[in-house]
Amino acid sequence: MIPLLSVIHFIALAFLIAAYLSILILSIMYLATPLFVRVPYIPIPQEVLENIFIALELDNASTLYDMGSGDGRVLIYAAEQMPGAKYFGIEKAPFPFVIATYNLYSRKLLKKLKPRIVLLREDFFDPDLSRATHIFAYLFPDAMDSVLERLKKSAASK
Ligand SMILES: C[S@@+](CC[C@H](N)C(=O)[O-])C[C@H]1O[C@@H](n2cnc3c(N)ncnc32)[C@H](O)[C@@H]1O
Repeated sequence: MIPLLSVIHFIALAFLIAAYLSILILSIMYLATPLFVRVPYIPIPQEVLENIFIALELDNASTLYDMGSGDGRVLIYAAEQMPGAKYFGIEKAPFPFVIATYNLYSRKLLKKLKPRIVLLREDFFDPDLSRATHIFAYLFPDAMDSVLERLKKSAASK
């Protein structure tokens, strides 16, 4: 018969190894971010989310795209204030995408959010934005210019 203490030790060790591996994998993903994107993952400060939400003037018919959605904080905050609208997060780098997925599903599990948020692991130059009523981007100035250029081109081609 296996002693109970050995079983507890084994389970504790398995948890420690799993936690260690998770931290290692997340660290590698974080360090690898520049391989995927030129604009780094710098989340917008929490204290400006309210002002962004007010400036966006969303209503229940709105569809908001966040170009480079990071950890999803802009979409999650907006969805908590305006649950009837639709939200799309476009994020290319794996690390912020994983964090955003965790943030989104932990809130769903806690029933804090009944959102219509879709996270897409895509380049923000690729997605079809024809359904967007609102587009948000918090990027470096040159990336902002490129995104704006792309939006102008797609609007002109309609
Ligand atoms: C400055 S952060 C902003 C994050 C979030 N929107 C916020 O306001 O907290 C820019 C984000 O854009 C992502 N990104 C950069 N270039 C991208 C691209 N070409 N396609 C999709 N996402 C990109 C980065 O990985 C990063 O998470």
